Amino acid sequence: MTEDTELRFDERVAVVTGAGAGIGREHAILLARSGARVIVNDLGGDIHGGGKSNQAADLVVEEIKYSGGDAVANYDSVEDGDRIIETALDHYGRVDIVINNAGILRDRSFQNMTDEEWDAIYNVHVRGSYKVTQAAWNPMRDQNYGRIIMTGSAAGIYGNFGQTNYSMAKLGLYSFCRSLAIEGRKRNIHTNTIAPIAASRLAAGIFPDEILNAIKSEYISPLVVWLCHESCEESGSLFEAGAGWIGKLRWERSPGHGFPLGESFSPADVKEQWGKITDFKGATHPANGEEAITSFVKAQMGV
Ligand code: NAI
Repeated sequence: MTEDTELRFDERVAVVTGAGAGIGREHAILLARSGARVIVNDLGGDIHGGGKSNQAADLVVEEIKYSGGDAVANYDSVEDGDRIIETALDHYGRVDIVINNAGILRDRSFQNMTDEEWDAIYNVHVRGSYKVTQAAWNPMRDQNYGRIIMTGSAAGIYGNFGQTNYSMAKLGLYSFCRSLAIEGRKRNIHTNTIAPIAASRLAAGIFPDEILNAIKSEYISPLVVWLCHESCEESGSLFEAGAGWIGKLRWERSPGHGFPLGESFSPADVKEQWGKITDFKGATHPANGEEAITSFVKAQMGV
């Protein structure tokens, strides 16, 4: 295995939210080991978002300092993301990397979902990532450098029973990332999304022991830390990672069927072409909105 010390982050300042436990803790430790100065943010609550404690962030900061690294704790909720970024600017004078990782669960089947459960998930995952990222955005634009990570989920990509709130939020983060990647391109700000699977307290009880042993949280961080390196040009992408495996996802579109322009067509016509519309043989992979839309509009216009 390559020594992780080969990718250095000296002089870089990284904010990792929810870094007091699980996957975020591993990101913070690996970044610090690679030379970054790290803001270890954690509210220190339970998995449903209740409670608060300084201990989670303090212990990780202590661990980083004990190993010779540089880190500062922050205990704010990501919903007050501007205060987290203020901690970075006050202590280190800059912010280069934002890893939006903090998360909670409020699982409930949809017929029983309450507004409070829906909003709590939205507020921590979506609004929290927005608040932290927006506070870091102008400093990143001004310095022509930034690396941002969103933490999505397989539930967001594939859906999951009891997680309508969570899956909505998690795939929303990917679309947030796609547009940020476009807006940040000229200022060297890259944004990517990961969908991790790891044996943290959020995953406890979901998987049997032999799987939990294979999906260590530390296996996610090398991908995230690489995506945050100055030599990494990747942006706007989505990666699944777990058990030491990493893969990239993309949209796939069937060749589809075009009804003749200028002629009306009925639901029954759509039904008749359904096999063709849903057949992925010869599928394409549009990389951006312009490519996606102009390709079928031009084909329909015969140009
Ligand atoms: P975890 O529960 O071990 O760690 C999450 C941390 O976020 C906790 O330390 C918690 O105190 C902190 N946190 C929660 N709400 C916060 C808030 N409002 N402000 C600041 N900190 C807050 O969970 P884990 O598994 O490490 O999760 C990390 C991220 O990965 C989450 O976004 C989660 O949704 C995502 N994820 C995890 C998966 C897994 O298999 N563990 C699967 C898919 C996604």
